[in-house]
Amino acid sequence: MSTVVRLAQSADAEGISQVILAALHSSNARDYPAEVIARVASNFTPDAVLDLLKRRVVLVAMQDSVIVATAALDGNVVRSVFVNPALHGQGIGRLLMIEIELRARDAGVTTLSVPSSLTAEPFYTKLGFHTVRDVYHGNERTLVMEKALLSRHPIGPYRDRQHRAQVVALWQEAFGYDTAHNLPTLAIDKKLAVNDGLFFVATDKKTVIGTILAGYDGHRGWLYSVAVHADYRRHGLGSSLVRHAEQALTALGCMKINLQITSGNDAVAGFYEALGYGVEPRISMGKKIVENIPTQS
Ligand SMILES: CC(C)(COP(=O)(O)OP(=O)(O)OC[C@H]1O[C@@H](n2cnc3c(N)ncnc32)[C@H](O)[C@@H]1OP(=O)(O)O)[C@@H](O)C(=O)NCCC(=O)NCCS
Repeated sequence: MSTVVRLAQSADAEGISQVILAALHSSNARDYPAEVIARVASNFTPDAVLDLLKRRVVLVAMQDSVIVATAALDGNVVRSVFVNPALHGQGIGRLLMIEIELRARDAGVTTLSVPSSLTAEPFYTKLGFHTVRDVYHGNERTLVMEKALLSRHPIGPYRDRQHRAQVVALWQEAFGYDTAHNLPTLAIDKKLAVNDGLFFVATDKKTVIGTILAGYDGHRGWLYSVAVHADYRRHGLGSSLVRHAEQALTALGCMKINLQITSGNDAVAGFYEALGYGVEPRISMGKKIVENIPTQS
């Protein structure tokens, strides 16, 4: 029988709940005590599912207009993957995960994570995930598993010897800096001195084609120097860079990310809006610390 995967709609809440509860009570019940199953089940009533649909990308697998499986993506985390127990072992879970990975890649996710039940560990292992740690919620043991999503233009940490000259050229082209405190070489030196691992580059083979510099001060996360080489724009790379930095800031516990747009570059607000950022009523102020700015020769 053919299986079609599509985005879930509100009308699917009841069907999604049924699949999840059936799978929990038959398959997962073999690995967990009854009270754990009851607690998890209470998170997937039709009303609870309706609420989840607002917050996550939820997919359903359909056979003859019947929901036979579901899976969700919550940022870079895969959640609640359940297949009707009568249809296990037919590749439906794999089909859903292929679509989840595609959507995650499109959203700029570079490491996909899943809190796996003990029951599902062999399934995720087959799909290329590996276990990174155990987590306990009371007596419920889950395994955090991860999979790196390879991209044609990988995003990784800035490496000074390989990247410096290219980053300087890209920033000069993208931003045309003309103030001493913004000199690219100085900005790079200062960022490396902080050594916070929040300076990333996107590469095409060995060529730097994009950058993003993030900062976290314990209160806010900030994004700077978001730049994509002119030949590579409007292909989603800028979005992937922002998502990559967001994941790094999120992992540090950051609760809000800010950024500033130079006046005259107002149109770029559309780029950030497409990524969920909103224009906030603020007056941006700044002060230069002159004694720390080298005089230009
Ligand atoms: C801003 C920048 C990083 C975007 O990179 P990109 O790889 O082209 O961005 P994406 O392809 O991920 O864009 C995703 C979406 O954002 C929007 N977008 C992208 N660039 C935009 C722009 N200049 N103006 C308005 N919307 C824009 C579009 O909706 C786009 O989707 P679409 O191509 O399907 O229409 C790139 O244009 C750049 O390097 N600009 C020069 C440096 C700069 O101004 N940086 C921002 C400093 S605050």
